[in-house]
Amino acid sequence: MNHLNIETTREISSINKTEAIAVCVFQDEPRFSGNIGALKERIETILNDGEFKGEEETSLFVHTRDAKVLLIGCGKHQEFGDAELNHAAGAAVREARERGVKKLFFVLPENTSAQRLVEGAIMGVYENTFYQKKDEDEKQIETFALVVNEENEEIKRAIERGKIIAESANWTRELADLDGRSLPPREFARHAAEMAEEFGLKVETLDAEEIQKRGMGGLWGIGMGSDEPPVMIVIRYEPENSSSDDGLLAFVGKGITFDTGGISIKPREGMEEMKSDMTGGATALGALRAIAQLKPDRRVIAVVPSAENMPSEKSIKPGDIVKTLAGYTLEVVDTDAEGRVVLVDGIAYAKELGAKKIVDLATLTGSIIIALGTHRTGLFSNNDDWANEVIKASERACEPVWRMPVGDDYKKKIESNIADFKNYGGRPDATGAALLLSKFAGDTPWVHLDIAGTAWYDDATVYAPKGATGKGVKTLVELVLSSEF
Ligand code: BES
Ligand code: MN
Ligand code: ZN
Repeated sequence: MNHLNIETTREISSINKTEAIAVCVFQDEPRFSGNIGALKERIETILNDGEFKGEEETSLFVHTRDAKVLLIGCGKHQEFGDAELNHAAGAAVREARERGVKKLFFVLPENTSAQRLVEGAIMGVYENTFYQKKDEDEKQIETFALVVNEENEEIKRAIERGKIIAESANWTRELADLDGRSLPPREFARHAAEMAEEFGLKVETLDAEEIQKRGMGGLWGIGMGSDEPPVMIVIRYEPENSSSDDGLLAFVGKGITFDTGGISIKPREGMEEMKSDMTGGATALGALRAIAQLKPDRRVIAVVPSAENMPSEKSIKPGDIVKTLAGYTLEVVDTDAEGRVVLVDGIAYAKELGAKKIVDLATLTGSIIIALGTHRTGLFSNNDDWANEVIKASERACEPVWRMPVGDDYKKKIESNIADFKNYGGRPDATGAALLLSKFAGDTPWVHLDIAGTAWYDDATVYAPKGATGKGVKTLVELVLSSEF
């Protein structure tokens, strides 16, 4: 269901019944471009009719005498960038699949990125229907053929990169779309280890006993309420000839496999979405999956504190105090603010392992959704240079972020009269949570990405089903590939 072969061609040859040609159509001139060949006139005739305007998120599927043509609305040239190309590709493969197309030729418009197009197509075919009974003649699109002017090495590399990144983002989505029942922490760790083995990454995961022994009281505390023990998933990428003197970058991801809220239990509405509360962790791991194949010259590690947040007679209770790995105590006034309690141990452990720079990712707060909605991830940082590197990477990846403040003017939110810190102090909570994390990051350059709003599509779009978005994987990969740290 989620696999797509990618090809390139300079000529659209022998179009048969199960094949179609997708062309990007704009609202303004030139209405379309690229290596279209003999189809040019046909498309002009269709467009001259005036019915199809080329607005974004619209498409027109037409049977011409020689071929089926899928016109994809791409809006105005001036507003058309990588993000729009990405969505156009996703919309095209989904629409074509719906029409029973097996092979879709896609005419690459002039001056656009083959990598982003391929990413859009592969992320476009993603489906989360794996729990549904399979239909015998289920519609499948098998091949996506880029129609280019020239088949050179550069295009081949761009396609390969796009494939690796998008397949990894889809791997992340699949984990996030799995239900809580199929993905308790030990299963999450198993998926991570299996992936690591496939791509030659090192696994250094800690089990519950190790977690307790090493004093990771935050992760242990949140994990206590469930029969499923917590794990600290650790996956490491090391290029050949690297030494421990080389800088280590850590991605720390929240890995709550289901968040009921614990004793501070959540209301029933929408609680099912909390099966995806491990998306930050899956994003960190998905990025390593891509990095292992792209083989950059940097050491990178993913650290994913993972637990199931459950109410039970064994659960952590509001007011309980945990001692964290960093040595600080934390008063857990609200057991539903569990993400930060496990993350502080993840951050401290990443530092213990030698991390020189940190990016953490977490579906951390409802508050960031109120602030930024679903279009931008909230970014918090203790270091302007590092923050700017991540912002630039997110821009290249078409995964926009918005920087939010971290500072002691919010310190009332985390001051406890009985412990070093408390985990919750009321709204605005996204800033309180970030401030708490910053205390554990200390002087290490750190960026926190609150992806609660961007990790999940509340509704289906023309380019994606309702559910996990995989957003964040591309940003992390861009960061590793092209930033200077
Ligand atoms: N996992 C949630 C945050 C969340 C909410 C993610 C909605 C995605 C969608 C987090 O653990 C949480 O429960 N946050 C609470 C904290 C508060 C009750 C202390 C919140 O933001 O409401
Ligand atoms: Mn919670
Ligand atoms: Zn949570």
